[in-house]
Amino acid sequence: MGIAVQAETRWLPANPLESQVARKGFLASTMDTYATVVLAAGKGTRMRSALPKVLHPLAGVPLLAHVLKAVEAIPSSSAFVPLATRTTTHRPIVVLGHEAGQVMAVFSGRCSYAIQEEQLGTGHATLAARDAVDALEPLPQTVLVCYGDTPLISSEVLARVLAEHLARQATVTFLTAITDQPSDFGRVVRDAAGRVREIVEMKRATEEQKNIREINSGVYCFERAWLWPALQKLPRNAAGEYYLTDLVGIASSQGHVIATVNGAFDETVGINDRVQLAAAEQVLRRRILERHMYAGVTITDPATTYIDDEVMIGTDTVILPGTMITGKTRIGSECRIGPGTTIDRSIIGDRCIVRSSALEETTFEDDVSMGPFSHCRPGAHLAHGVRMGNFAEVKNSYIGAETDMHHFSYAGDATVGEHVNIGAGVVTVNYDGKLKHRTIIGKGAFIGCDTMLIAPVEVGDGAITGAGAVVNKDVPAGVLVVGVPAHVLRKVQIAENSMAEDNKKE
Ligand code: UD1
Ligand code: CA
Repeated sequence: MGIAVQAETRWLPANPLESQVARKGFLASTMDTYATVVLAAGKGTRMRSALPKVLHPLAGVPLLAHVLKAVEAIPSSSAFVPLATRTTTHRPIVVLGHEAGQVMAVFSGRCSYAIQEEQLGTGHATLAARDAVDALEPLPQTVLVCYGDTPLISSEVLARVLAEHLARQATVTFLTAITDQPSDFGRVVRDAAGRVREIVEMKRATEEQKNIREINSGVYCFERAWLWPALQKLPRNAAGEYYLTDLVGIASSQGHVIATVNGAFDETVGINDRVQLAAAEQVLRRRILERHMYAGVTITDPATTYIDDEVMIGTDTVILPGTMITGKTRIGSECRIGPGTTIDRSIIGDRCIVRSSALEETTFEDDVSMGPFSHCRPGAHLAHGVRMGNFAEVKNSYIGAETDMHHFSYAGDATVGEHVNIGAGVVTVNYDGKLKHRTIIGKGAFIGCDTMLIAPVEVGDGAITGAGAVVNKDVPAGVLVVGVPAHVLRKVQIAENSMAEDNKKE
């Protein structure tokens, strides 16, 4: 029985530029085009997760994003060069089903979507993309199909499959790999002459076939005109599914040209469960670390260093052991990061030092030093040359250039000027139990040890607060306040202010 249930499809309109060029008849007459279909509708049952499988992060980026990145980079990979003058493509079409809304919310306009209402196998999922593919202008001759759960696949190998397909004028071309541990991959069955006969899924393989070391990696190119009718004729198997892989046996029995490309096994890893997720994470992390090392970053201990895919690091920066750098973090040159440091979604300038500390959504200008054991929370901005020592926390605050904040202090919702000294134990009392309030500290101010700044409050330029002062009223520029609550003791001389400057440098 063929696929009786016609899958409903929805898709976003094709790229307007593509249609414009097509209307001029330019591409249509001179260019081959290929469509890419990424299958990502499966429930991912083996993940045992509420999160759709393709949204599980790998090196900080969803599985599907890794696949899309590879697909998008096909035209710039070297295997594509010979095709470049006569082949072009469209936005990838992603087939979704399970929790489609969640996936679309993450990727929005980056791809088009087709919906597979019921997950009846990879063959059924590919057919769900038919209307979306056929609506493309110019109409693609070739359909490249890959899976959303094979995040280590490279653009280079995808381009090789495409190039081989076009060169051989094949009906089907697919990617294989050789491994001693074929586990649950489909096995590639060849005849005595080495011609591909079929792909047999592990569950249906005979004992002899289970020993086959050539596996199906899950990347295919099909001739579009052959693909749709063939999919409709796919038999439904005992498990109630339509397997895309069965198309290979069909093409073979019809005497069509079937080509294969042999790729590296570690690119093929498909993520079906969390053990495979961790294994892929290890491979990818090693690649990321090597990329940084080749680009001039010292990583003292790769085994204990975790860097997400989107992180950028400048040359001659040293990453010390036990460090985790995540999200879209950017670190400048000649920094020393770690040991024991986590940095998430932050921007760090050049020549910064961060020891045993944690940073989230933080900005450091150049020459900032921090730690050990301090914390910058979202919205922390430390200007040039700030020295933030141990057991200090900054949240949603701007700390001006060359300001010192060496020990046990908290700046929350504060704007601190340049050349300020923040003594040990200083706290911005920013929360009254209901609302957060701001503290403003002028440039050159000297905030004595254990000062409590009861926000909203402002301390003027060059003012001094005595040790233990509880400041609940604004302090004018250039005065010394002391006591609980703080009161003005006297004006301070410029000289005293410079002394304050000198003191803090000790
Ligand atoms: C599949 C191949 C196998 C190959 C392996 C490579 C089939 C039948 N088998 O097995 O030969 O060695 O990949 O990784 O294709 N999906 C849908 N709709 C569905 C079912 C699946 O969109 O109804 C999607 C999934 O979300 C997934 C992809 O297709 O991203 C592959 O499905 P999966 O169930 O993981 O196939 P495998 O068992 O890994
Ligand atoms: Ca899989």
